[in-house]
Amino acid sequence: MSGVNLNGIVKCYGAVEVVHGIDLTVAEKEFVVLVGPSGCGKSTTLRMIAGLEEITAGDLTIHERRVNRIAPKDRDVAMVFQNYALYPHLNVADNMAFGLRIRKMPKDEIKTTIEDVAGILGLTEYLDRRPADLSGGQRQRVAMGRAIVRHPKVFLFDEPLSNLDAKLRTQMRAEIKRLHNRLGVTSVYVTHDQVEAMTLADRIVVMNDGRIEQVGTPMELFNNPANTFVAGFLGSPPMNQIKGTLTQTGAQVGDTEIKISGAMNGQAGRDVIVGIRPEHITLKASKNTSALPIDLDLVEPLGSEALLHGRHDNVEMVFKADTDGDIAHLSGVNAVHINPDLVKLFDAETGRALNFGA
Ligand SMILES: Nc1ncnc2c1ncn2[C@@H]1O[C@H](COP(=O)(O)OP(=O)(O)OP(=O)(O)O)[C@@H](O)[C@H]1O
Ligand SMILES: [Mg+2]
Repeated sequence: MSGVNLNGIVKCYGAVEVVHGIDLTVAEKEFVVLVGPSGCGKSTTLRMIAGLEEITAGDLTIHERRVNRIAPKDRDVAMVFQNYALYPHLNVADNMAFGLRIRKMPKDEIKTTIEDVAGILGLTEYLDRRPADLSGGQRQRVAMGRAIVRHPKVFLFDEPLSNLDAKLRTQMRAEIKRLHNRLGVTSVYVTHDQVEAMTLADRIVVMNDGRIEQVGTPMELFNNPANTFVAGFLGSPPMNQIKGTLTQTGAQVGDTEIKISGAMNGQAGRDVIVGIRPEHITLKASKNTSALPIDLDLVEPLGSEALLHGRHDNVEMVFKADTDGDIAHLSGVNAVHINPDLVKLFDAETGRALNFGA
């Protein structure tokens, strides 16, 4: 059974179409992350699922029931927002109980539900406090608690962690994932942070300009991006992309030939974009690798790794190298060595991935 199904979903604000016919099936219990740059239509899509925005065209079903015309409160979804939207004058317990009282759940049942969920979220000792007297992370947990107590069919999250500092964000990210593993509720999660998308998702949906660019598991999208947009969006730092021309055995980039595994099928001369992940290089040449000369201009230590910033043929590129505890040896780097099996090729005009077969 599908948890949530979007079929040709369109959203117009007045005459302006901002979501252009989205097809997506979220399986029951699946955790799907919508990711993409600001303004690409993530929140609009999520809000249409929640019932907070009218759907201009297409069909939306939740657990096989068409809900286009069903009010938000009757869709059996619970949404967690970036700003938490807690009631400032109510304590934690009352914030969590609010929706249950509206639904006329019996008092003692509300009490046990709140206690259970507070236990899961580590909020038991804060039940009497007001939101103003909580840390950002605790407030975030209350917002989650308020969604969980309702036992919805679907959780919808809109950038729930973006108000937290980096450390807390990482911690809450892990909590959300553990919670999902434990509760197994179908979830649609919106973020513009690709690391959040990679770490949380069963499947990622990469959106761009009101359309879906690609859907797949984090590793599918990382290993086989369908186009240069996805290649440039996922991965940190993103894939290096440089113009080249196919040869019989690889691609010519400036005055360097990068060898590429797989038959080129007589496509020599074709203009391509050559994609090289920052981590897919070595500093020492080995059998089959090709050397790509770079003018190094910056080494950024991250600890166990360092980022090497440089240029080849006037294109800025970033590579990752191990530090082995020291970066002195990295300042003299003047070339990186590329494994022919890991190079990606894209059509120069359309940006679509090219696969010539191994
Ligand atoms: N009420 C509205 N009226 C008109 N246009 C709107 C309205 N709400 C959103 N839009 C437009 O719809 C597009 C998608 O907006 P949306 O909020 O879904 O983006 P987003 O992907 O969530 O971006 P962000 O990462 O910045 O939150 C944007 O171009 C936005 O300007
Ligand atoms: Mg948004």
